[in-house]
Amino acid sequence: MYPKYIFMKTWWRALAWAGLMWVAYAGSATAESVSWAPANWDRELKLPEAHDHNPDPKIVEIELTARVADVEVNTRQTVRAWTYDGGIPGPLIRARVGDRVIVHFTNELPVATTIHWHGLRVPNASDGTPVAQRAVAPGERFDYEFDALDAGTFWYHPHVNGDVQVESGLYGAVIVRGGIDPAAAADRVVVLDDIKLEATGKLSDATTPLDVMLGRQGNVLLANGTPGGAIDVASATRERWRFVNAANGRYFNLSLPGHTFLVIGWDGGLLEAPYRAGTLLIAPGERYDVLVEFSDAPGTTIALQTLHYDRGHHIPDPGPLDLFSIHVGAPGDPPAALPARWGAFEPIATATTTMTRHVVLSEEEQGVDEPRFLINGMQYPAVPAIESTPGATEIWEIQNDSEMDHPFHLHGMFFQVLDIGGVAPAQRGWKDTVNIPQHATLRFAVHYGTAGRWLYHCHILEHAERGMMGVLELR
Ligand code: C2O
Ligand code: CU
Repeated sequence: MYPKYIFMKTWWRALAWAGLMWVAYAGSATAESVSWAPANWDRELKLPEAHDHNPDPKIVEIELTARVADVEVNTRQTVRAWTYDGGIPGPLIRARVGDRVIVHFTNELPVATTIHWHGLRVPNASDGTPVAQRAVAPGERFDYEFDALDAGTFWYHPHVNGDVQVESGLYGAVIVRGGIDPAAAADRVVVLDDIKLEATGKLSDATTPLDVMLGRQGNVLLANGTPGGAIDVASATRERWRFVNAANGRYFNLSLPGHTFLVIGWDGGLLEAPYRAGTLLIAPGERYDVLVEFSDAPGTTIALQTLHYDRGHHIPDPGPLDLFSIHVGAPGDPPAALPARWGAFEPIATATTTMTRHVVLSEEEQGVDEPRFLINGMQYPAVPAIESTPGATEIWEIQNDSEMDHPFHLHGMFFQVLDIGGVAPAQRGWKDTVNIPQHATLRFAVHYGTAGRWLYHCHILEHAERGMMGVLELR
């Protein structure tokens, strides 16, 4: 198409140009994903499930292989992708609190990789990062082992060249059950992503300056690997939907016209109390558990949409984009009463003596080159490790000095947000990934977990892989 030097002439001109192109393709993506979806295409958005081959009910033991595969994105198109067990997403792993989870991983990709268990409090040796293990070379195997400690919605993905590997199709969900379980007619897991398909139908492997700046945004939106899918729900019932944002850069801002979401949980499990939301913003890496009630008349069709969210750098508004449609059928059994109690939440006691760590997020443009993403003015791995001891309580103050939002993720433990811009959040629950709005400062309190080297980073993976990452070393 255009020679590469046009992109490189000046970086900002390239950004503006790409922005225009993007308006063009974001518009066409909506139209395309609709026309691509014949009736009944992958109805119900079911995820394949991992096969537990261990007869012991307290052990979930599975085989998982990363390999190149041709994946059907819709009935007339197949893309060559990097996958777990041949699909996008990879198999859903289910466990109960207290279970031992053993994953025998085989790497059949042409490159080295690892698996990180995002949000799960695993031993450091199973955290799947380059600071905790040697990457699994092509043809090698590695066993990940951990106890499922917390009920909630989690996910897994590689932690070597994460921007490229996750974008190529490597991600899957993990559900851990236990404790309070609100009655719902269905409990669905919806993994959200976007992929960039070239005109030829090939999964794009080019990284443009715009991709680096914003995290790659695709032109096809996927829910459980499917564009324009559909589910059936019964009228007069309530469903539980668990969302995972597995995209590199896209923020999903969900809306279900005529309905609200009752948000009951997020990253670290159930909230202390649910809250109602008309739109639900999910930054990359975050998870949200919601209840949705369908009082719609049988025969109604509604679409789950994502609305524009201004995350900085003047990203154009493509208008509402459809994720999947919901067909409301005959009335089902009326939902049982909601539980009286939800998640256990004990505020972490902080005193003026509690050590505060200062983390400044910034971006630096360098003329014609790609921008760099920094922590305290340094680029990973040059960022000095934060050193402390397991079990210590500390406050992190994260100051976003850049022109865009960054979703901040800490491995191996959950934290409690104390305030954003000095204002305490209205809801209380445990997080492992939180959006830090442009030019805002957020504080969280954390009880440190177990010994090891735990990464923290921006979950826009292009940013993490270009410097916005650091190590918390507990010993
Ligand atoms: Cu899902 Cu280090 O990340
Ligand atoms: Cu970022």
